[in-house]
Amino acid sequence: MRFYDCLADEASFLDDCLRGLAAPQKALAPKYFYDHLGSQLFEEICTLPEYYPTRTEMAIMEANVAEIARLVGPNVELIELGSGASVKTRLLIERARPALYVPIDIAERQLRSAADEIAALFPWLHICAVRADFTRPLRLPSFMGVPVKLKVVFFPGSTIGNFTPDEAAALLRGVRDMAGTGARLLIGVDLKKDKRTLEAAYDDAQGVTARFNLNLLARINRELGGDFRPERFRHKAFYDEALGRIEMHLESRYAQFVHVGGRRFDFRPGETIHTEISCKYAVEEFQALARRARFEPLRVWTDPDRLFSVHLLIAV
Ligand code: TRP
Repeated sequence: MRFYDCLADEASFLDDCLRGLAAPQKALAPKYFYDHLGSQLFEEICTLPEYYPTRTEMAIMEANVAEIARLVGPNVELIELGSGASVKTRLLIERARPALYVPIDIAERQLRSAADEIAALFPWLHICAVRADFTRPLRLPSFMGVPVKLKVVFFPGSTIGNFTPDEAAALLRGVRDMAGTGARLLIGVDLKKDKRTLEAAYDDAQGVTARFNLNLLARINRELGGDFRPERFRHKAFYDEALGRIEMHLESRYAQFVHVGGRRFDFRPGETIHTEISCKYAVEEFQALARRARFEPLRVWTDPDRLFSVHLLIAV
């Protein structure tokens, strides 16, 4: 297993944080959730009864694995964006038998341990783990030790929903240009559905999602010397039907101020830090978005309850 650290510069967390907290609508990018503790909490979210996407996506893949493996084909370069624990990928590797696996993630410890586990499970597979922020222009190491022509990009978990439609189109366009004409994109996309199911998925009864959201403040304290008191903030998640997206915020319970990087930031009672969006797409809506990035749909699979979708597309 080879490991490349392509994370641009560590200073950007501080810069982004200072800029985000100074904005009229305070905001922090969701990629900052994923420090070590955040990655662990996210794994826990994926097992919650309310959080249907993980198990539904896995079930869709299991039900259709023969067809997916046939369409993906053997001996490809399998690139995974936001690979996390690489759980769903195991099925794909086992059945499609790629030559090379390139997991890309921002969380180093999780990336290393997931890649080690994959290496132990599939001794025949070449693995090149890349620590990177895929929201920035991706320049993968040009030669990763195996001459493979066809690239298949796996982008599960509806991570694409964590960007606005315009950002998502730009991100997919970058993926398309990196992977080249003829490349395949296998992507998991959460479907639009009733408000109650959606809101429960982002505000579970056990409070794991709340802990995950609030960990961002603790991370700022740990890494940037901030003095947030997380107990003075409240996790808030709601579905905006008009925009077709979940919004997550951290709401200040009181009038208060905090310091980060030697600067003071004031909060009114009820003022929020916007920490995440999770956009939901009908099948045709996502296909239209993908076309903007020069991907043509090949096939789409959903579960019987139409909670989640897995799309296979080709770069044209
Ligand atoms: N891509 C996942 C989603 O939008 C990420 C996610 C799930 C998430 N639950 C979360 C991110 C809670 C932050 C908080 O569903």
